[in-house]
Amino acid sequence: MTTPAYSPGLEGVIAGETAIGTVEGGLSYRGYFVGDLVEHASFDETAYLLLHGELPTAAQLAAFRERVAAARRLPPPLKDLLAALPKWTAPLDALRTSVSALAHFDQDASDLSHDANVRKAERLLAQIPVAIADHYHLSRGGNPLPARQELDTAANFLYMIRGTDPSPEEVKALDVSLILYAEHEFNASTFAARVIASTLSDLHCAVTGAIGALKGPLHGGANEKVVDILTAAGDTPEAVEKWVRDALARKERIMGFGHRVYKTGDVRAGILKTFARKVADAAGTAGIEDRADVIERVMAAEKNMYPNLDWPAGRLYHAMRLEIPLYTPIFAMSRITGWAAHVIEQLDHNRLIRPRALYTGPARRPVTPIGERG
Ligand code: ACO
Repeated sequence: MTTPAYSPGLEGVIAGETAIGTVEGGLSYRGYFVGDLVEHASFDETAYLLLHGELPTAAQLAAFRERVAAARRLPPPLKDLLAALPKWTAPLDALRTSVSALAHFDQDASDLSHDANVRKAERLLAQIPVAIADHYHLSRGGNPLPARQELDTAANFLYMIRGTDPSPEEVKALDVSLILYAEHEFNASTFAARVIASTLSDLHCAVTGAIGALKGPLHGGANEKVVDILTAAGDTPEAVEKWVRDALARKERIMGFGHRVYKTGDVRAGILKTFARKVADAAGTAGIEDRADVIERVMAAEKNMYPNLDWPAGRLYHAMRLEIPLYTPIFAMSRITGWAAHVIEQLDHNRLIRPRALYTGPARRPVTPIGERG
């Protein structure tokens, strides 16, 4: 047997084919550059594109939104479970439990056909924001708010969390962040979902596993660290600059910077930065944007390292006065579209994903009977 090439962390390895998205030449979904989608389409249109393969016509979008809006509710036993979770349960963990539990109530759960997977994906797109919002209220001893059928994903989510109508600027900014978070080729959580699907497991299992992979601070969890960094860094440009230089000298990682693929910058971060600044200006939290600029300058000069999408996203959600533990669940609320599209693609052309490992353990040796050991 020949020894296959080895790349730690699978860096640079082509691990499969996809027609869903590429990071080549700037991120695009099914051939559309994300900047164009942000300018000319909504998150709901982008979700349709990822799940159905093409941008919708007005009639297709209306029918899609109607199906999604109709599925915006949780089975009552799941609400009871969310209410019974310990109060310290992290929202992302509650979401992972919710997706796992939702499988029991979905009659298509074990149907692996393309059409059933699209139907289940549309339902998860509807249910995930509700699960996040319902757990948010239940964990505070409050009552969840019913979803608003006439609102799109971004506006409905903000309404369900706050109970008031969000401003059009906030809805647009959240919508843009959802477009940018929706899909990213073979990132860790999507790859985890594809590995699970490749065993002919089902969509809910794959998404449950993907949420687990998203949680870590080297992936989706980074957006929850951004505000802590900007708070710890201090108020004045001098204090911020000293803080980041000291942190780098201690070899700390500045969450929201760096990327396995993008070594000269993440196009998504540049797009969302404008929206984060606009919402922060309106909210009176522009100081955080100024501090972020200082850190960006030092990171570029000292480490040749640039922000990823989590850097402006964490600031945007903070300016919207959303609580920090909701940030990674919001990422999941968008990425469900990319995860589901990849699971569907994997199952449409399935081959079990089972790589090899480079063995570094002891050479073959005899088993010593237990009486002779020690
Ligand atoms: N701050 C400071 N130094 C960093 C950072 C950072 N954010 N990221 C990487 N480095 C340094 C590492 O310490 C390492 O230095 P060394 O060679 O002196 O040991 C070098 O850069 C290479 O780092 P690796 O971890 O090998 O690079 P990799 O490609 O595996 O890292 C990753 C990618 C995990 C995203 C990394 O940049 C990181 O940890 N960033 C912070 C977490 C983060 O923002 N994650 C979000 C990812 S994007 C997303 O999920 C939307």
